[in-house]
Amino acid sequence: MIPFTRPTIGDEEVAAVARVLRSVWITTGPKVAELEVALADYLGGGVGVRLFNSGTSALEAALLAHDIGPGDEVIVPAMSFVATANVVVRVGARPVFVDVDLVSRNLAVEAVAAAVTPSTKAVIPVHFAGRAVEMAPIHALAERHGLLVLEDAAQAIGTEYQGRRIGSSGNPVCFSFHPNKNITTIEGGALACSDPAVLKRVERIRFHGIERDDEGLISVSEWGGKMNLPDVGAALGLVQLPRLVDFNQRRRELALRYLEKLPRHPALVLPEDVPGHSWHMFCVCLDAESIGMSRGQVIDWFRQRGVGLGIHYPAMHLFPLYRRYGYREGDFPNAERIGAQTLTLPLFPTLTDEEQQQVCNLFHELLEEGGRG
Ligand SMILES: Cc1ncc(COP(=O)(O)O)c(C=O)c1O
Repeated sequence: MIPFTRPTIGDEEVAAVARVLRSVWITTGPKVAELEVALADYLGGGVGVRLFNSGTSALEAALLAHDIGPGDEVIVPAMSFVATANVVVRVGARPVFVDVDLVSRNLAVEAVAAAVTPSTKAVIPVHFAGRAVEMAPIHALAERHGLLVLEDAAQAIGTEYQGRRIGSSGNPVCFSFHPNKNITTIEGGALACSDPAVLKRVERIRFHGIERDDEGLISVSEWGGKMNLPDVGAALGLVQLPRLVDFNQRRRELALRYLEKLPRHPALVLPEDVPGHSWHMFCVCLDAESIGMSRGQVIDWFRQRGVGLGIHYPAMHLFPLYRRYGYREGDFPNAERIGAQTLTLPLFPTLTDEEQQQVCNLFHELLEEGGRG
């Protein structure tokens, strides 16, 4: 079976994790500190990095550290993993959805501009599948309205925008290192930003609100959660990070080959390559109905032939939780079409050329021979 994703874990990763497990300190400690420095160096721009036990925690802490809460509106794309909107609800603010582009799956500045109200405090652009959002106009808009721009780069470690790595701008940017991401710490996430006060505050928020004085005595002056990453995960990340450039190069190679070898067919919308894309996922839209099938049947058809396809993602505003905010079908046509038609093809560094060819052949068979080939 060819899965749609698979982490690349070698002997070095296993040895690094084993070393930590055999040491005296297995939770947050020296390895986390080391990975924070290594990530900051990798991103560039003089930013600081703080690690978390998930990308979700990093986003939540970033919102809290900017005092986003009840009465505030936060603009988010209707097409993302649900964590992007859930963190807004978690801090007591209101998520305001906007539609995305059908091909890039990213929000555009026009959609954001139309959604701004006097209550808007922040916008969370999501670099979908590793493709950078067009950030310059969003920053300009945010400046005009005094909005926080919090980038959800959960899928975008290694992505570049205008020749610089996402995360190096100094604005708060959150990453995820969940096992399906381009590098992993098992579960884990990070916040990168250049404001020392924000970095200090998220340090407290990620661990019970605790501050220590010079004698090591603790004090708590604001709420904090339990969002710290164990050293076991950080040790894994320290081996993964130096491999990221190679991982992403292989991802790009595979993505370009998909773009070359997949059929051009009216039922199939392919993604585009752009400079700096880190190709976290290769997502297409397939109008299964137009070939007389449902999406579920297409997924089964591939599964029976040894290929796993993913769905990233249903449109968030149609989940029961978000319908309670008044959203319904027809609000965001592109997000809804993607939600109904999206399929994620296998893409990970250890996918072989032969396996990829098999996936492409199946698409030709399905679309050109009606699956009967
Ligand atoms: C766009 C987006 N935001 C946030 C997250 C949350 O990251 P994590 O799973 O590390 O909490 C993910 C994870 O898939 C994601 O894809």
